[in-house]
Amino acid sequence: MSRIPQAFIDDLLYRTDIVEIIDQRVKLKRSGKNYSACCPFHDEKTPSFTVSPEKQFYYCFGCGATGTAISFLMEYDRLGFVDAVESLAKTAGVEVPKEERRDDDGRELQRKRSYTMLERAAHYYEEQLKNHPQRNYAVKYLQNRGLSGQIAKAYGLGYAPPGWDNLLLRLSQNEADQKLLVDTGLTVEKNEENKRYDRFRNRIMFPIRDGRGRVIGFGGRVLGDDKPKYLNSPETEVFHKGRELYGIYETRKYAKQLDFIIVVEGYMDVIALAQYGLWNAVATLGTACGEEHLNLAFRHVNEVIFCFDGDNAGRAAAKRALMSSLQAMQDGRQIRFLFLPEGQDPDSLVRQIGADRFKALLKNALPMEDFLFDVAADDIDLNSMDGRARFSKMAAPLIHRLPEGIFKQLMFDELAKRTGLSNDVLSEFTHMDEESLGLKEDKSNQESEHLHPASNPEPGEIRQAPASRRSNLNINPARSAIVLILDQPALLQKCSEELSLPETMLADNEISTLNEIIAYLRNRPDANFNNIMGYWGGAKGVDAQQALAKLVASQIFGDLKQVDRYDPLAELSACIVALNKAGRRATLAQELAQLNAKGLSNLNAAEKQRYVELTRSN
Ligand code: UTP
Ligand code: MN
Repeated sequence: MSRIPQAFIDDLLYRTDIVEIIDQRVKLKRSGKNYSACCPFHDEKTPSFTVSPEKQFYYCFGCGATGTAISFLMEYDRLGFVDAVESLAKTAGVEVPKEERRDDDGRELQRKRSYTMLERAAHYYEEQLKNHPQRNYAVKYLQNRGLSGQIAKAYGLGYAPPGWDNLLLRLSQNEADQKLLVDTGLTVEKNEENKRYDRFRNRIMFPIRDGRGRVIGFGGRVLGDDKPKYLNSPETEVFHKGRELYGIYETRKYAKQLDFIIVVEGYMDVIALAQYGLWNAVATLGTACGEEHLNLAFRHVNEVIFCFDGDNAGRAAAKRALMSSLQAMQDGRQIRFLFLPEGQDPDSLVRQIGADRFKALLKNALPMEDFLFDVAADDIDLNSMDGRARFSKMAAPLIHRLPEGIFKQLMFDELAKRTGLSNDVLSEFTHMDEESLGLKEDKSNQESEHLHPASNPEPGEIRQAPASRRSNLNINPARSAIVLILDQPALLQKCSEELSLPETMLADNEISTLNEIIAYLRNRPDANFNNIMGYWGGAKGVDAQQALAKLVASQIFGDLKQVDRYDPLAELSACIVALNKAGRRATLAQELAQLNAKGLSNLNAAEKQRYVELTRSN
């Protein structure tokens, strides 16, 4: 990237005449206000390439090529951006700001030197594993851990011999080299005495490569039980732990088919899985798996499976990963969680049960959505109304973090189904209670805008208001509607909303009950509560009648009436509107699912168009 100041570039373009620049390379003809020529960027017989002296840009009606004098030079003369600017500056007789230019070059050059040095270090360590007099300790260690020579080679494993200056002496000729060794984290500098020594001593070395295969850092493991067990390169100009995945290069190079990527915790896990034919494992580098890690993985696959130890630490790590996962969950991506048995890591487990059984575990890994609901339901009794409300308060903020799209809607629908709370209520929970999960990073006070106008909270009570005043009341719209209608059957005649739902939604017991009661009241507009109960008992039996009675008598009913300015007609309308909306969504989701099932490549043009509409519509 260039560091040339934008002001300079603007000024340069102002001094330059694009017509002159292009005309020197492609003969231009005047035509009206503009100039034209046969396009130099595609093959043509009649000129469709136009240059506008007024706007100082070119455009080709044939191939769409367009840009400024700079982009023309980049394309036509095949120059990099900086060189194109240089070239224009020369023509214009001005100088590119020197400081900036040198700085840019300097950083580029510095990075190149770093890569070279790191590559040399990787070679050095590899060679020591083959030739160092004490190499046997390292080789034995690797053998004891069951690693084959072939796999060690694929991952470029090496050996940093004991001693303070092996690498230092081998890789540096002069002060500049020594400085580079410090900058790349290969040696450590003691400030007081200006002393430098090898960072990695008597360790098994794991070179860490970026996606293009360049060595960017190392992990080093002790041969015994010393501490720290693993030592990693520090952050440097070329090594950013938050963005890199150990094994990503090898995965792309060796995996025969890359359907999904497995994210594990350790170097050894990656390598052991590879040895068992699972080449698609990567590891974060002693840090939690963040969004950038996931985006890197998703550049290559649509599915990521996390492997975590089954213990408490593993579960805590999984929760953190869940938080990063939420933001990375664009439509079409899948994330799953595999929890390993207590005391196992992927390395030990794959050796114990073999590749096939490990693959079977992967296949059954918990989908992210289930893990999310598990986390939210931790320690909560979902059989109680209160429990379900608390559960919603946990889950809604998590779901809210998902990017907009079908998946997010489906998750809210699923939450509504699991709790019996309406989507409206759930959206009120959205900004609450993440901290009780130990997950919340930042806190803002956006709740106030979600306040229901009727709730009128006491000062200082704002955070509580949405939950206590309204949400508990608005129990699942179907249930609310049943209760409201049974309480005042005449309401239905006054209500201007018509319930109209797709077949699929009638699978839900309460929704179908509501639907039937409404149908009954259409025939018998003057029926009262007892008529409805009588009809229900006759049609469905005594048990169904009792269930209905119980529903009507339940807590919700009393609560509803206690709300200030309680307006049953408005409540009923809102319930029906919410149900109709859910119905439309279900229809769309079903249509999308059918298209997905067909497979994208099998869709005809109209279906593809529809697919795009469906995935775009929120
Ligand atoms: P573990 O302690 O679970 O080790 O650390 P492991 O991967 O099972 O290692 P082996 O099997 O004993 O060799 C998991 C990961 O955490 C990071 C490393 O990336 C390691 O692979 N780690 C661990 C460190 O960076 N430093 C440490 O001291 C320990
Ligand atoms: Mn291990």
